[in-house]
Amino acid sequence: MDKVSNLQRKKYYIETWGCQMNEHDSEKMAGILENIGYIETSTPKEADLIIFNTCLVRENAELKVYGNLGHLKTLKNKKPDMLIAVCGCMMQKKEIRDLIKEKYNHVDIVFGTHNIHKLPELIANARQSSGMIIDVWEDSGDIIEGLPAKRKYGFKAFVNVMHGCNNFCTYCIVPYTRGREKSRLPEDILKEINELAAQGCKEVTLLGQNVNSYGKTLDKKVSFAQLLRMVNEVEGIERIRFTTSHPKDLSDELILAIKECDKICEHIHLPFQAGSNKILKAMNRKYTKEHYLNLIEKIKKAIPGIAITTDIIVGFPGETEEDFEETLDVVKKVRFDSAFTFLYSIRKGTPAAKMENQVPDDIKHKRFQRLLDTIYPISLEINQELKDKVVEVLVEEISKTDKTKVTGRTRTNKVVHFPGDKTLIGKLVKVKITNPKTWTLEGELIN
Ligand code: 5AD
Ligand code: SF4
Repeated sequence: MDKVSNLQRKKYYIETWGCQMNEHDSEKMAGILENIGYIETSTPKEADLIIFNTCLVRENAELKVYGNLGHLKTLKNKKPDMLIAVCGCMMQKKEIRDLIKEKYNHVDIVFGTHNIHKLPELIANARQSSGMIIDVWEDSGDIIEGLPAKRKYGFKAFVNVMHGCNNFCTYCIVPYTRGREKSRLPEDILKEINELAAQGCKEVTLLGQNVNSYGKTLDKKVSFAQLLRMVNEVEGIERIRFTTSHPKDLSDELILAIKECDKICEHIHLPFQAGSNKILKAMNRKYTKEHYLNLIEKIKKAIPGIAITTDIIVGFPGETEEDFEETLDVVKKVRFDSAFTFLYSIRKGTPAAKMENQVPDDIKHKRFQRLLDTIYPISLEINQELKDKVVEVLVEEISKTDKTKVTGRTRTNKVVHFPGDKTLIGKLVKVKITNPKTWTLEGELIN
């Protein structure tokens, strides 16, 4: 496209909330839009099409969407030809769609998590219609293959291996918004990864709500460990990551695959959510604290130096001081490299929302702070062991806070900042760690 025609092309702006699954869905929408001639803008004011890709996992993400949608009303009044679309997990809920219809009638298009491939048709319909176009599918049936994706980086990419979740943890809305578990065929996954490698991609992150149960829905059964071994053979790919794992399904076969496959990074994200067996049962997590601790021991023994990260929920209904101390106990015993910590958030439609013994907010907040005070010093101690060590870093971008530095990640998924310029972006380099901190590492390039 030359400059003049670029000026004539319509512009899109996508704002994404939530998990990597949503981020990757937005990459697919960007790919679809560019295929029909749109170009991206980072300024909503300039856009002809604004898309909000929403998340429903916790209340604060949901509230932000309403706030931001409200703000768009003024812009839409000034630019009536602009289209506003809202999609993602929130739109899978009828009550939310009704609220959008009632209170946010400046929205033009509403669609869900299962039909993003229909975006061009929805846009065409919206251009011809004065009313709101609403098209949300309850479940996707078959997985739609072959969608284009405009990935944020050329050298690393998300690849879906499965969609949906069958676990129904009692606090979680995801099984209701993403539908039942479905695995992609290994040949489709490998085709995508081979194409990525041919385009220069070095790192893939295999995505699924529960990657450890990959393959269960396929006619010809393939385990996640077998899939990883196949990906490990793809020439050009140098790093393999995957997320998220569920402790109930993490097999010895998988631990062995991580140990034996040179490209699989030494990092596992293994959410434990809570330490008390009573709370784990109420959460329907289907494992015990003892099982989790055993699993961690096995992983650490098989793969020395592996980084372990987790998700923890504070203040699930019925959580007593003793239950919470079990959570702290797991943190102290496992010694996580880092942890994502969440205050329990009531999600309407999930079993836990109806549980009577909800924990008061002030207690939740105090426990949350105690949890952070336990996690952070451990992260720092673990990182300090890296002082003066040389690590491999895949350079991602110019540092956001210091333009003389670049930022990248170790195989263990730690963020490293070091002096460098844009010629390093996308390269695997050796960096000596000079100043390890709690959340990031500082270093210098080794030639
Ligand atoms: N409240 C708080 N945290 C939640 N998560 C999922 N649902 C809720 C909820 N209702 C957290 C879990 C999950 C992560 C992605 O989000 O820890 O692993
Ligand atoms: Fe939600 Fe549990 Fe499924 Fe994860 S495994 S998406 S927490 S229901």
